[in-house]
Amino acid sequence: MDPEKAHYRIMALLMFICKLPFGAWMLRTCFSIKKNEFKKEYLGLTFPNTVGLAAGFDKNGEWVDVLANLGFGFIEVGTITPWPQPGNPLPRLFRLIPQRALINRMGFNNKGVDAMIENLKKVKNKNIIIGGNIGKNKDTSNEDAIHDYVIGFEKLYPYVHYFVVNVSSPNTPGLRALQDKEPLMAIIEKLVSLRTHQEVYKPILLKIAPDLTIGQLDDIAYIANHTGLDGLVCTNTTLDREKVAQNPLSAESGGLSGVPVYQKSNEVLAYLRPKTEKTIIGVGGIASVADAREKMRLGADLIQVYTGFVYEGPGLIKKLVRGIH
Ligand SMILES: Cc1cc2nc3c(=O)[nH]c(=O)nc-3n(C[C@H](O)[C@H](O)[C@H](O)COP(=O)(O)O)c2cc1C
Repeated sequence: MDPEKAHYRIMALLMFICKLPFGAWMLRTCFSIKKNEFKKEYLGLTFPNTVGLAAGFDKNGEWVDVLANLGFGFIEVGTITPWPQPGNPLPRLFRLIPQRALINRMGFNNKGVDAMIENLKKVKNKNIIIGGNIGKNKDTSNEDAIHDYVIGFEKLYPYVHYFVVNVSSPNTPGLRALQDKEPLMAIIEKLVSLRTHQEVYKPILLKIAPDLTIGQLDDIAYIANHTGLDGLVCTNTTLDREKVAQNPLSAESGGLSGVPVYQKSNEVLAYLRPKTEKTIIGVGGIASVADAREKMRLGADLIQVYTGFVYEGPGLIKKLVRGIH
């Protein structure tokens, strides 16, 4: 089946199951494990466990309760932009099955921040930690990008537990240029200053690409240590095709995720860990307990999965939760 169609079909099925008598209970019984020993404090928040769902799976925050039933400790919704946008033309999601990888060029398809807020207002699960991943609309220039981040941040503030500033998607033209020191400092400092007017403190993290140079990584470490940033999400998808060159689908443009990005995102994590004490969420290519353990050994405090979840199914979450505690 077309991978994007499969995504919506399976979520519709899970939503249906949850509406049946005992449906949600059945999912929880099969897939999630709740134990006090899995609880961890990071970013001033209590995570039911340290295995999260990475951004881009639930772009509009419409499936938080269902996904929580599958055992995730936290769910990062988005990337959300101020205004709805359709994203890139279809097809835009490809499965590189022998390499356990995906290439996507979704292009921040989403229903806009107001629609996300309406969805998040309906979330029933009070334990799940929700991250709000914010981005800019395609039509917004890089000069004006800061306004889009401000809109996402201010509107979503009451509805999420932490924020992730996404400047690392390869599918919005020019977005990754915002990872340069000057524009990035401006965005982060603006959000940090806006936070001082809020009654409740909400952590702000930065999500970075695995394709940065050493110089850029040093800048990121500087920003992490010299602004009010609370942490980093390492990493987004890669543009590098070296590990999948033999697959004809590697010619598709977009970000590559899954097993082939594992090493690269680990290298970024390993480079940044000694340079900052801020919280790091390790993401990229986790498909097994051994992968997750290695990310933690390299210094990840929390981990996230996306592509591994697609290939391995929801049983992976329970295994990871058990395996890393
Ligand atoms: C189809 C798809 C859509 C994604 N959309 C987003 C997004 O909107 N925002 C974001 O920050 N990351 C997005 N990502 C990146 C993932 O959150 C994650 O950083 C990346 O896929 C590496 O993790 P993985 O190897 O476990 O998939 C997307 C990934 C995929 C596969």
